Amino acid sequence: MSESTRSDALVLFGATGDLAKKMVLPALYRMAEAGRLELPVIGVARSDLDDEGFRSQARDAVEAVNDTIDKDTMSDFLGQLSLVTGDYQDSATFEALSSALEGKRHPAHYLAVPPPMFSVVVQGLAEAGLNRGSRVVVEKPFGRDSESAQKLNAAVHEAFDEESIMRVDHYLGKESVENLLAFRFANTFFEPLWNRHHVASVQVTMAESFGVAGRGAFYDNVGAVRDVVQNHLMQVVALLAMEPPVDPSADALRDEKVKVLRAMRPLDPEHLVRGQFDGYRDEEGVAQDSTTETFVALRLDIDSWRWAGVPFYVRAGKCLAATALEAVVELKCPPAPLFAGAECDPAPNLVRLRLGNDGGVTLTGQAKQPGRIIVTKPVDLRVDFQEALGSWQQAYERLLDDALDGDARRFAREDTVEQAWRVVEPALQPEAQAKVCSYDPGGWGPAEADRILDGGQWYEPTESA
Ligand code: BG6
Repeated sequence: MSESTRSDALVLFGATGDLAKKMVLPALYRMAEAGRLELPVIGVARSDLDDEGFRSQARDAVEAVNDTIDKDTMSDFLGQLSLVTGDYQDSATFEALSSALEGKRHPAHYLAVPPPMFSVVVQGLAEAGLNRGSRVVVEKPFGRDSESAQKLNAAVHEAFDEESIMRVDHYLGKESVENLLAFRFANTFFEPLWNRHHVASVQVTMAESFGVAGRGAFYDNVGAVRDVVQNHLMQVVALLAMEPPVDPSADALRDEKVKVLRAMRPLDPEHLVRGQFDGYRDEEGVAQDSTTETFVALRLDIDSWRWAGVPFYVRAGKCLAATALEAVVELKCPPAPLFAGAECDPAPNLVRLRLGNDGGVTLTGQAKQPGRIIVTKPVDLRVDFQEALGSWQQAYERLLDDALDGDARRFAREDTVEQAWRVVEPALQPEAQAKVCSYDPGGWGPAEADRILDGGQWYEPTESA
């Protein structure tokens, strides 16, 4: 369906599930508050609830997450909700949905359901003819490896064309992540430096100070590589490393992302360290002998003219010392150390891109310490985007709004998803999975993670996300 047509109904599969309660319904309420939810929202779930029960559950979900609630907005919002109940394998569920959608020509179907259900729901929609004129929004994880991702893409393509498929990666909805595009391509000051001639290495750290937060059974089957590297962090690396798109359209943007992913070597298991925090195996739903990684550190190599020889280090972990998302671009040191007295700190220049909630940039450079002799010390030039530019919306709100518009810029395209799986696939092989190093909660993961740095150091994030 055409990109410019706004959807006239939102169908929320998995309407009584965790994702709907924690993310989707609160985001829909905020859209209602902003006057951006001008359509009926039809939940679908296997549930005993009726419309009123669903509304009351939705109210609780919104109140649990959102700080401020406006009574009138809430009442209008709840009035827009209704529920169709039934099994996703049963055609009667889709017939009931079809009646609920009477008169609607361009619904958006949001699949907030467990991954094994994605293709079942898509098939149900197609059999009921509900794919015609509509869009589908698919949550992560999109597959568990290359093969399953390809199969899933093929199954979704049976019913929807690529233009109507919105693959959610909520990192693409984060303002601070999207700001990488502006920072790199709306400025000229970094472009001459942004390459192998001046960049020594790039690091991306996604740290979480909490554990699996009650999702042990899900997480134990997934691990950090599948949970956050294949999707969120590969998207961040692509934004850091891609060439400028020829125009701001969704396809031009995604063409450049896929190009840089294609230039990435499949991960070398020698450049991979997997960790598991002590106490993980005691989490509910986690196997006693689990070797699932809750931490991963790895090195990526991009064989392109811009990046050949520049290591991209990525690490992600749970139960670390802080919650933060940060990319650090380390520049090469000056060729001749003019001020290299014993008191100088010859730290390299750093561009720290803070990509979490406190989004901003910190440039670390050298300056002269006051005094008779020239002694230089690192100093920070720092900007906080929200302070400078105003507050921003949450990722889910932006993504839902985009999905209703069919604006695909902040969604993952088929080829980028498959390329990202190709790159991480070696980390999923049994030999690579065999070793997992334990680490104490509250630190920066296992000491072994230093091994992949070729003598360098990990930069601790400067702010919490
Ligand atoms: C999700 C992962 O996709 O992203 C979680 O499944 C992770 O394990 C979360 O905690 C992190 O998202 P954010 O927006 O808090 O960085």
